Amino acid sequence: MVRVGIMGFGFMGQMHYKCWKAIKGAQVVAVCDINQNIEEDTKKAVGNIGDTDEAIDFGSFELYTDFDKMLKDAKLDAVSITLPTYLHPDYSIKALAAGVNVMCEKPMALNVEGCDRMIAEAKRSGKVLQIGHCVRFWPEYAKTKQLIDSGKYGKVIAATFQRLSATPTWAIDNWIMDEKRSGGAALDLHIHDTDYVQYLFGIPRAVCSSGAKGPGGNLAHIVTQYFYDDNKAVTAEGGWAMMPAFEFEMSFNIVMEKATILYDLTREPMFKVCPAKGDAFTPEVEEGDGWLLQIAHFAKVISGEKAEAVTTLEQSRDSVKIVEAEKESAKKMEKVSLS
Ligand SMILES: NC(=O)c1ccc[n+]([C@@H]2O[C@H](COP(=O)([O-])OP(=O)(O)OC[C@H]3O[C@@H](n4cnc5c(N)ncnc54)[C@H](O)[C@@H]3O)[C@@H](O)[C@H]2O)c1
Repeated sequence: MVRVGIMGFGFMGQMHYKCWKAIKGAQVVAVCDINQNIEEDTKKAVGNIGDTDEAIDFGSFELYTDFDKMLKDAKLDAVSITLPTYLHPDYSIKALAAGVNVMCEKPMALNVEGCDRMIAEAKRSGKVLQIGHCVRFWPEYAKTKQLIDSGKYGKVIAATFQRLSATPTWAIDNWIMDEKRSGGAALDLHIHDTDYVQYLFGIPRAVCSSGAKGPGGNLAHIVTQYFYDDNKAVTAEGGWAMMPAFEFEMSFNIVMEKATILYDLTREPMFKVCPAKGDAFTPEVEEGDGWLLQIAHFAKVISGEKAEAVTTLEQSRDSVKIVEAEKESAKKMEKVSLS
C-alpha cells in the first residue's frame, strides 16, 4: 500500500484526494493544512473545471497543521504538494530530503532559481518529483499530441490555444491575486498552454507577448506569439479578467497540412478532427481527466512500473522560463529571444 499525504487542502488538495482515492494500491493517510477550520472551509472550495464536491471523509486520515510532524509521524511514501505556488520549492525539497516522493502542482516554482533547487534535491535524494502539468495528460490534448506525432496529417502550419477564466477570487487569503505569491495570470493559468506548446513543438526561438493589466494593476491577460524556425504560426491567449458569467474556456485550433484539430471545453462535441476529405469525427480518448491520469502516472513511476516519459523536470522548469520571457516581452513591448 502506497501511503500518501496531501500538503495544502484547498481546491487542488481536494482534487488530488479524489484522484488518489481512485488509484488502486494507494491510500491517503494524512492531510496537512495550516487552516484550523479546514473541515468547514472544505465545503466552500471552488475552481475552474468541475468541482470537488465529493464528500471527504475526514475520519479516514490523520489531520495535521504541521508539515514536519506529518513527515515524521505518517510514514509517507508520497506526498501531493498542493500549496500556493510560492511554497512549492521549500516544501517539495523538505519532503524529498525526508525520503518521500513528491507530486507537486504546477507551476513548479515562481522562478527558474526555485525550479533548479527542486531539481537538485530530486537528483540528490533519488526520489521521484513530478510537476502537475496536467494538460499533457488531458485526454484530448494527449490524443492530439499522438495525432500530430504520428505524421498522418502532415505538419502543423498554425496553432492557437486559449485559456480564459473569470477572476479567481476564491483563495482563502486571496494569494492567487497576489502576483508575488502566484506569479499572476501568466504563470498560474496561461502556463498550462505554454507547457503544452513546448510539449508539441519544443522551446521556441523567441516569444512576443502583449499583456493587459486588470483592476489590481497586475498582468491579467496575455497573448503570445511563439517563434519557430519553420515559421509555423503559434499563439496562445490566457487571462483571468473575464466576467463571472463567462466561467471558463480552454480550447485550441490546430491547423495541419491534411487536417484541422479542434477542442473547446464549452462546445459540444468538444473535440473534433476535420480531415482533408470526409466528415469531421471525434477520436476515442482515454477515460478520466488530466488530474487523475497524471496521478495514475506518478503512482506507476513510484511503484517502479514502466511508464512513458510524458514530462521531465527540466521541461517543467523551461515552461517557467518561457513564461518569464513572455512577461518580460509584454512589459518591454518587444520580442524576447530564448535561444
Ligand atoms: N493543475 C491545475 O489545473 C490547477 C488548478 C488550480 C490550482 N493549481 C495549482 O495548485 C496550487 C494550489 O492552488 P489551489 O487553487 O488549490 O489553492 P487554495 O488556496 O485553494 O489551497 C491552498 C491550501 O494551502 C493551505 N496552506 C497555505 N499555506 C500553508 C502552509 N504553510 N502549510 C499548510 N497549508 C497551507 C491553505 O490553507 C489552502 O487550504 C497552486 O500552485 C496552483 O497554481 C493547479
